[in-house]
Amino acid sequence: MKIAILPGDGIGPEIIEQAVRVLNALDEKFEMETAPVGGAGYTAHGHPLPDATLQLAKDADAVLFGAVGDWQFDTLARPMRPEQAILGLRKELKLFANLRPAILYPELAGASTLKPEVVSGLDILIIRELTGDIYFGQPRGVRIAVDGPFAGEREGFDTMRYAETEIRRIAHVAFKAARQRGNRLTSVDKANVLETFQFWKEIVTEVHAEYPDVALDHMYVDNAAMQLVRAPKKFDVIVTGNMFGDILSDAAAMLTGSIGMLPSASLDANDKGLYEPSHGSAPDIAGKGVANPLATILSVAMMLRFSLQRPEQADRIEAAVKAVLAQGLRTPDIFEAGTTRVGTRDMGDAVVRALAR
Ligand code: IPM
Ligand code: MG
Repeated sequence: MKIAILPGDGIGPEIIEQAVRVLNALDEKFEMETAPVGGAGYTAHGHPLPDATLQLAKDADAVLFGAVGDWQFDTLARPMRPEQAILGLRKELKLFANLRPAILYPELAGASTLKPEVVSGLDILIIRELTGDIYFGQPRGVRIAVDGPFAGEREGFDTMRYAETEIRRIAHVAFKAARQRGNRLTSVDKANVLETFQFWKEIVTEVHAEYPDVALDHMYVDNAAMQLVRAPKKFDVIVTGNMFGDILSDAAAMLTGSIGMLPSASLDANDKGLYEPSHGSAPDIAGKGVANPLATILSVAMMLRFSLQRPEQADRIEAAVKAVLAQGLRTPDIFEAGTTRVGTRDMGDAVVRALAR
């Protein structure tokens, strides 16, 4: 089993370092190879997704990704910006299914900005389609408007689109995931306004016929955003398109108090995957040794479960993370009075020690 390690920018290298230590602390040894990506890819090879990095990712059984982006690269032309690396990897590796769990650990109930009774015990799964929608639709660009009230003016435009196959395959992933959990699926759309999502709703409803045991409901995205902060525990699995999923998953992440705790998996049709923390590169705290490595460590657990078929190792890592939280260890993002503030490396140490027990 070979794992491609892509640390990226900002806090990426620090958190990946701890995740790799956790991998090395398992009984089984995995082959790992590291390559630059994002701003680091641009600096090393003049491109955010260098050819050698892409090839390594393609050849590996799984990819462990840190985060990309830093202020110094913000002025580059769009194709050279760090974000293009993750978008390129999703597209090139055909990682269409993005799993973003939002789980509130009981120890962190006080870290949420919502009242404890609204969020305690929260355990929802957002499944975001990741290679279609307005993110990749063509044409896009800036042009001169040919008609309408602003004819002759410059206008920016993008294309929202979903092919039937794309909707069907993500719907299957979502119904199957719901079966592993509470058997309830909410499909989020904007069918009242958008043709693309009227079509989405129709296809999801058709696929539902193959999963009669799963309860399906449909919700408009604006209402879903409201329900997520009003009564998030009413959800079990949410499936939605690329852009709505981007937005709703950030909101869901924050219900748990810290985006620093949340892993994610991006899977292809054969369960090969890219695993990354849900948070970004946080350049403001990079190099200070205070970043929370737990989202990345939990991403390693997802990798072991979904791509490397090592569910018992995944369970061990998740149990170790619960153990360090129970010990009261907290990085600054989840710190509360009465707990022990630790840095990135100490948190990694604690997880490695908990694994050994
Ligand atoms: C995410 C991020 C990315 C996205 C950016 C960095 C391109 O926000 O993974 O949610 O929009 O998909
Ligand atoms: Mg996002």
